[in-house]
Amino acid sequence: MKRIAVLTSGGDSPGMNAAIRAVVRYGIYNDMEVFAVHRGYEGLIDNEFEKMSRRSVADILHRGGTIIQTSRSVRFMEPENRQKAYENLKKLGIEGLVVIGGNGSLTGAKLLEEETGMKVIGIPGTIDNDLAYTDHTIGFDTAVNTVLDAISKVRDTSSSHERSCVIEVMGRNCGDIALYSGITGGAEVVLLPEIETTLEEVVDKIKEGMVSGKLHSIIIRAEGFPISSQEIIKAVKEETGQDIKLVVLSYLQRGGSPSVRDRLFATEAGEKAVELLRDGFSFRAIGEYAGKISHFDLAKALEAKRTPREDLLESIKVLSM
Ligand code: F6P
Repeated sequence: MKRIAVLTSGGDSPGMNAAIRAVVRYGIYNDMEVFAVHRGYEGLIDNEFEKMSRRSVADILHRGGTIIQTSRSVRFMEPENRQKAYENLKKLGIEGLVVIGGNGSLTGAKLLEEETGMKVIGIPGTIDNDLAYTDHTIGFDTAVNTVLDAISKVRDTSSSHERSCVIEVMGRNCGDIALYSGITGGAEVVLLPEIETTLEEVVDKIKEGMVSGKLHSIIIRAEGFPISSQEIIKAVKEETGQDIKLVVLSYLQRGGSPSVRDRLFATEAGEKAVELLRDGFSFRAIGEYAGKISHFDLAKALEAKRTPREDLLESIKVLSM
């Protein structure tokens, strides 16, 4: 294979640039020409290609975001636009495409190969960690560390003012950012879409803390948890009399310089993607399994049903909510 392309798609995540850099440099090392597609699938449809050199990806390893931009492309959901994208790739003589993104993006890659035969390799890039086939997605570790830093700062002011705080985190319908940051940040209450928790149980936990002398509590709420932050705040105020504030971390979790773990996984994944295409493989999803870079059939990988780590859920029940 002599000519490949790489794109980033869906929500950006810290570490995507490390993956792009690895695809470009390892591809060139293997005597390939590497093209970047700007703006994800939108750019693939609109023919936005850039020939990359080793220098194109200089000084990006430490940068969050994606230097080739990303998009959430509704148009790519239509078969005729996937066909148009395929024709753009063929016009440039591109034989393989590396897609860095989450569930929706890798599903688009699956459809592209199924419908057109374009060889694709998927790399899991999302802060949500919601792809069941892999133990880790690029950006998740950095996002959790961002939340940890926020918990520490909020705890300073909460303890000074003897008031609690709800910290709302991202993850869409996956609770892993809340779960991992809640455990490692020592939150008193962690609310996940995967664990049914009533408002009464939340209030009781705060009351328990007050009885044992806790002057403040940190409540981590995953955005997919069914009870809103506002409802929680209202109930805690009315039932316990304790003052309580809200911090919504929102897009802070999507930025920042990627952690070592995200840079390493992204780099290994980028190299593996090039290696698979070089050796004639395609329709593969790259992931981490038992601490090692692995790859799986793309369709099967996307069918895998995600279940949160039971051991960590048990910890949360014992250590907090
Ligand atoms: O998928 C990553 C993510 O940050 C989710 O955690 C969040 O719910 C969503 O993207 C936000 O989407 P958008 O960037 O389109 O607002």
